[in-house]
Amino acid sequence: MTAAVYPGSFDPVHSGHLDVILRAREIFERVVVGVLDNDQKRYLFSVEERVELIRQSLGAATDIGVRPFSGLAVEFANQERAGVIIRGLRAVSDLDSEFQMALMNRRLEPRVHTVFLTTGFANVFLSSSILKDVCAHGGGIEGLCPPVVEAALRARLAPVPAAPARNG
Ligand code: PNS
Repeated sequence: MTAAVYPGSFDPVHSGHLDVILRAREIFERVVVGVLDNDQKRYLFSVEERVELIRQSLGAATDIGVRPFSGLAVEFANQERAGVIIRGLRAVSDLDSEFQMALMNRRLEPRVHTVFLTTGFANVFLSSSILKDVCAHGGGIEGLCPPVVEAALRARLAPVPAAPARNG
């Protein structure tokens, strides 16, 4: 059995991510979630907030590590002495970019294998971006993310008022 890292942006973590994390935990000896800190990217939540939201969402599953990382995912895997990078696959549309990333990671570090775990049916169309968009427009996001994430999203995103109807 080997250790695995699960790198991602997690801005914020949602039910699809948690499904992947918990299933990875059943397969691998040790699982560490890596939260990317990339200063070229604009995030809704800081890296410390994203790490904390994952920790709180995992609750009693304290055997799962959650750490920030910057730089290459394969370097993070090496640092954690992990032989596997886990990625979640939702639909065929993910495949193109995930394939590209997996092959590049393999070229950078042949010792590290990418393992894809498929998302459950309920989460196939779920992404952090869509969650933020729906929440920003006042839509319901119950069940799509843990309550702690829902509260953080509601606190951070004031609903965008609908445009007034035009007369004439
Ligand atoms: O949750 P995301 O945004 O789909 O995760 C993408 C992530 C963080 C896994 C990817 O951008 C990444 O690994 N970034 C670190 C830089 C890196 O290793 N790049 C080479 C892989 S092509």
